[in-house]
Amino acid sequence: MEHAIRVIGLTKKFLKQKSNAEYFLQPFQKLYVTALDNVSFDLPHGELLCLLGENGAGKSTLIKTLCSLIWPTSGYAFVNGFNVTRNDVQHRRQIGYVICDERSFYWRLSGRRNLQFFASLYKLPTERINRRIDELVEWIGLSEAIDQRFKGYSSGMRQKLAIVRGLMHDPDIIFMDEPSKSLDPNAAHNLQELIKYEIVAKHGKTVLLATHNLQEAEALNHRIILLHKGKIQAFGTMPEILTQSKCDSTYVIKLTNPHPDLPAKIVALPGYLRQRPETNSILAFEFNMMPHNASEIIRQVVEWDGSVVSCYAQVPTLQDIYRTFIGDS
Ligand SMILES: Nc1ncnc2c1ncn2[C@@H]1O[C@H](COP(=O)(O)OP(=O)(O)O)[C@@H](O)[C@H]1O
Ligand SMILES: [Mg+2]
Repeated sequence: MEHAIRVIGLTKKFLKQKSNAEYFLQPFQKLYVTALDNVSFDLPHGELLCLLGENGAGKSTLIKTLCSLIWPTSGYAFVNGFNVTRNDVQHRRQIGYVICDERSFYWRLSGRRNLQFFASLYKLPTERINRRIDELVEWIGLSEAIDQRFKGYSSGMRQKLAIVRGLMHDPDIIFMDEPSKSLDPNAAHNLQELIKYEIVAKHGKTVLLATHNLQEAEALNHRIILLHKGKIQAFGTMPEILTQSKCDSTYVIKLTNPHPDLPAKIVALPGYLRQRPETNSILAFEFNMMPHNASEIIRQVVEWDGSVVSCYAQVPTLQDIYRTFIGDS
């Protein structure tokens, strides 16, 4: 089998809940929201892919479609070779769906009882379920709390339980929808390490992870799909996306109390990009990074009696890249 996930021209339109004005102006017309717009990509086995986009970008819709929880309007999607619209039991057995919706657990039951219940839906033998629970909770660091009631769990513990629930039947392909939502930075970091090094690198699972968090996508440091309004804006590793974004590395040069004539001269220098907001006494100018031009700019500014307080190279962050694709909107 060539790819873990193959998506071809996937489109999903939802019927839109009309506003009062829309009811008045178009009483009989059906309005649609396009959650996914002709999305296509392939994901090889054993890889981690980060689905990055702001709220409403279509991340959950894509994951739910790949898990056969909703039907696409048009296009195709294959997970482990199974057509997602066939709703095959085999397909469901090979995928894990990690959503950290707390309401999907039974609050009065212990973590263990919850896991036993959800695993029984896969018709796994009891002995195997119990063995797997011990194995996974030990591995994820939840052994001590596993027999306590779910309602007493912290957000981090709930998140971990949700991950264990998604892994109980040992799926090959795991879908995670915002797994670090509501985790503190430390717990989120641990979770990212766990996904990267344990689930993907060590156990060879394929993971499709949705996040609206740029830092998370950057930390996971694998391939990224940048999704905006249901469309793929960019796809690839960070360096590939960097090239597509044409988001250049720059030099920032800061001056203190420059002569009033100096800014106009600096703006005319080759490679000048923009002036950045700073304090009253400090001015910051950004230049396109070209070989050796930092020393040239500094030499010129010093010659004009400018007082340079700092000069540093600035590599674009995912945030900068995101802005070049979708703007500030
Ligand atoms: N069941 C639904 N009915 C109507 N619109 C929906 C439904 N689910 C999602 N949408 C719309 O589809 C778009 C994408 O939503 P979603 O996939 O949840 O985005 P994300 O997970 O990236 O925040 C949004 O505009 C959302 O309002
Ligand atoms: Mg979502």
